Amino acid sequence: MRHPVPRLVSTELSPAGDGTLRSDADAWTLLLALARRRRRPGLPDRTAAFRLRDDDELEEVHDADPSAARWDPGSGWSVPGEHAAPARAMLDLYLPLCGARPGSPVVIAHLGQSIDGRIATHSGDSRFVTGEANRRHLHRLRALCDAVIVGAGTVAADDPQLTTRHVPGDDPVRVVLDPNCRVGAAAGVLNDRRAPTLRAGEAARLGDARRGAGAAEVIGAPCDRGTLDLRALLAALHARGLHALFVEGGGVTVSQFLAAGLLDTLQIAIAPVIIGSGRPGLQLPAVPSMRDCLRPPGRLFRMGEDVLWSFDLRSPPDGADAAASPDLERIS
Ligand SMILES: NC(=O)c1ccc[n+]([C@@H]2O[C@H](COP(=O)([O-])OP(=O)(O)OC[C@H]3O[C@@H](n4cnc5c(N)ncnc54)[C@H](OP(=O)(O)O)[C@@H]3O)[C@@H](O)[C@H]2O)c1
Repeated sequence: MRHPVPRLVSTELSPAGDGTLRSDADAWTLLLALARRRRRPGLPDRTAAFRLRDDDELEEVHDADPSAARWDPGSGWSVPGEHAAPARAMLDLYLPLCGARPGSPVVIAHLGQSIDGRIATHSGDSRFVTGEANRRHLHRLRALCDAVIVGAGTVAADDPQLTTRHVPGDDPVRVVLDPNCRVGAAAGVLNDRRAPTLRAGEAARLGDARRGAGAAEVIGAPCDRGTLDLRALLAALHARGLHALFVEGGGVTVSQFLAAGLLDTLQIAIAPVIIGSGRPGLQLPAVPSMRDCLRPPGRLFRMGEDVLWSFDLRSPPDGADAAASPDLERIS
């Protein structure tokens, strides 16, 4: 569903005639166009250049326009050129999602946590751990992805809408992992029809999953002692043409995707708040020493009062740390 949200306000003239992106609003318009284009069939199986037309759609250009967006069937989109800092930060953070395609899906997960690693209070209240800029970031991730995935615990606690109402962009398909059918039949996400919704349950018990699923469609995956086979679930989503997938929480769900090695990118937003006890973020099997801990390469972005670590789980560790990027890129 598309919401009647105005385009982001740009404080500068845009777009520049030379293809330069002058603001985050310019960058967002281009990113949405790139994401729309990858969803349509017919992207060339060769490198190609595209420019943004006045109607915000892409047009292939054959002359060597140095600022045109480049499509490479092997590596996805790139946007060369000198762009204003806010636009470059947006491209750095979001462009990888725009290249998801059959055979090269992208799975990204995000958690917003306190500095002591909690994503909600003991009672399950998580409104709001992080600030407005990070919440806008979540809506942008939803808009660029084909589906957003949440665990039953999140729906039981929050019944989130999982739409893109704070940014321009289309709503993703919503997927609720609910093998024990514990999400109540009255849950808004199963019934509001704001976006296509899937309730994921055990393949051997689809009849149970259909009961109380409301307007949601039921999708099955093999289940071992209560744990859904997430790899099989992802394959079923890809078969439906859903190639950019956003795992939005909560901690149990993101931890399971991480432990199964299914994430390409893990984002942790850290807010300057101390919760002290409550729902934990990541929980992984114990490791004996610090040497055994995951230390993936990451980039740091500033979002209002929060900072966001974006970890690349497909690259080998390279010791990247905050000191390597002293001027944090700012996402507003
Ligand atoms: N700050 C944030 O970023 C953020 C984001 C989202 C949610 N939250 C908060 O986090 C809390 C919920 O998080 P949570 O960690 O407790 O729960 P959760 O991850 O939302 O849901 C976990 C449940 O989902 C089902 N599930 C997930 N993966 C599964 C798998 N592979 N196989 C089978 N079932 C699977 C299971 O349901 P069953 O138990 O029924 O088997 C599991 O217990 C809420 O308070 C919410 O407000 C915070």
